[in-house]
Parts: sequence; C-alpha cells; structure tokens
Amino acid sequence: MLKLENVSKNFGGLPALSDVSFEVPQGLVTALIGPNGAGKSTLINCTTGVLQPSKGTVSFQQKKITALPAHQVARLGIARTFQNLKLFPRLTVLDNVLTGLTCEGGSSMLMAMLRLPYLRHRERQLKLRAMEALDRFSLSDKADWPAGILAYGDKKRVELARATVSQPDLLLLDEPVAGLNAEETAEVGEQLRLLRSAGHTMLLVEHDMDLVMEIADQVVVLDSGKCIATGTPEEVRRNPLVLEAYLGRMEATA
Ligand SMILES: Nc1ncnc2c1ncn2[C@@H]1O[C@H](COP(=O)(O)OP(=O)(O)O)[C@@H](O)[C@H]1O
Ligand SMILES: [Mg+2]
Repeated sequence: MLKLENVSKNFGGLPALSDVSFEVPQGLVTALIGPNGAGKSTLINCTTGVLQPSKGTVSFQQKKITALPAHQVARLGIARTFQNLKLFPRLTVLDNVLTGLTCEGGSSMLMAMLRLPYLRHRERQLKLRAMEALDRFSLSDKADWPAGILAYGDKKRVELARATVSQPDLLLLDEPVAGLNAEETAEVGEQLRLLRSAGHTMLLVEHDMDLVMEIADQVVVLDSGKCIATGTPEEVRRNPLVLEAYLGRMEATA
C-alpha cells in the first residue's frame, strides 16, 4: 500500500534519513521503532508531504506521491497524528475533529446557494460522524470545550479522533500513547486494535514495546537514519543488531 524507496533527508547537510526502503502492506500494522533521533518523525513527515525527501520516492497504491503537498496527500486517504500535537487551540474539540473531514465537506459557493437543504443534511451527517469519533475516545462530554484547555491525554486523543474520523485507508501515528497514563494507554490500545481488526493499514511509531509486540504484524527498525532491520516482532526482538542498537541502549538508559 505504501512503498518507500531509498528515501533520504538531510537537514543542513546532516543526514536524518539515509536510503530508507520498506513497504507497508495493506491491512497490516507496521511498527516503526528506533531510539530518539533515529529519524522516525522525519520519515512520517516525508511520507505525508510535510517535508520533501532530499532523495528517493514514496508511492501510495502504486502512485508516486513524493512531490505532493500535505493537503493533497490527505485527500488520497492518508491521515496522521503529530508527535508534538497540532490542534487548533481556540476551536472546539468537535470542530477540531471536523477538520479531519474537510476533504469530504468541500462545496462551492454556488452549490451552497443552490442546494441548501442538501448541504444542511450533509453538515449534520459530518457532525454525527465527528461525535461518534469523539465517543470512541470517551470525549463526547468535552465536544464544546476549546481544545487548548484540555489536559495532555485528552488532546492526544482528540488528535486520534481527528485522524481516524475519515476512516482513512492509511493511518500514520507518531507515538500515540507517549505521555499517556496507564488507563489512557489501555483505551488508545483498544482503539488501535479495533482499527486493526477493521482492516485499517497503519504505520505506528511507538516506544511502548508491549504495545508494539502485541499489535504489530511487521516491525521496521531505524537507527541513525538507516533501516537496520525488518521482520515480525519476534524476529526483530531476537535480531542481535536491534538488541545492540536499540533495546540494549534502551535498557542501558532505563
Ligand atoms: N526540522 C529539522 N531541522 C533540523 N534537524 C531536524 C529537523 N527535524 C529533525 N531533525 C533532526 O533529524 C534527526 C531525526 O529526528 P526525528 O525524525 O525527530 O527523530 P525521531 O522521531 O526518531 O526521534 C535528529 O537528529 C533531529 O535533530
Ligand atoms: Mg519523533
């Protein structure tokens, strides 16, 4: 479904990604792991049009998307969350989630004038879907709150509601449970499992190894901008390169 070929990204001459190649198969969960600074967020940004790779190609459903801007990538059915939350703080929680449906709500001024009842019906439907998404993350009671005043865990779940409300074909999640408490982590984990069993394709950046081992079909390991291993969670867990580069270092710092 998603294919990266020799993707490289430099920041001021320093390589953040070097010749990264892997595929995200349809209907499966691919976890992207690696120590801090490995290039995971940069890779998500290069895939979603937020950043342009310095080199290499990104294809989605056999179509090259490397040069597309972020809003066009979104229109193709790719949704994402950001490691550092990107909500509109003054908009309500509901309106933030509705922005996840803007691709579907689009209508011209002429259409708005000619087909008012139809559009009102359409708007009601979109609101209903946004409310359902909020409900899945136990946020219905905060629908009218400005997003800026929410606690961190709630903000994080509003982002997830916004990313999933359009039922995207491909979902890229950058550390969705980082900073959440145990209860919130369990709730998000449950939602990810539901999305997985509904056949959604996911690329999941996550440090919570228990979650990765449980939910991922395939694991890709990045270290210093290079892809050092790909395999099932079990294969990756036993890979000496990974143990040395990643898990060993994690344990050393833990
Ligand atoms: N916008 C940027 N400008 C300059 N350097 C960046 C930028 N974004 C990331 N980097 C650098 O690229 C490397 C990879 O960062 P990042 O993709 O955020 O890693 P990860 O998400 O795996 O922790 C780091 O060395 C980081 O400092
Ligand atoms: Mg990151």
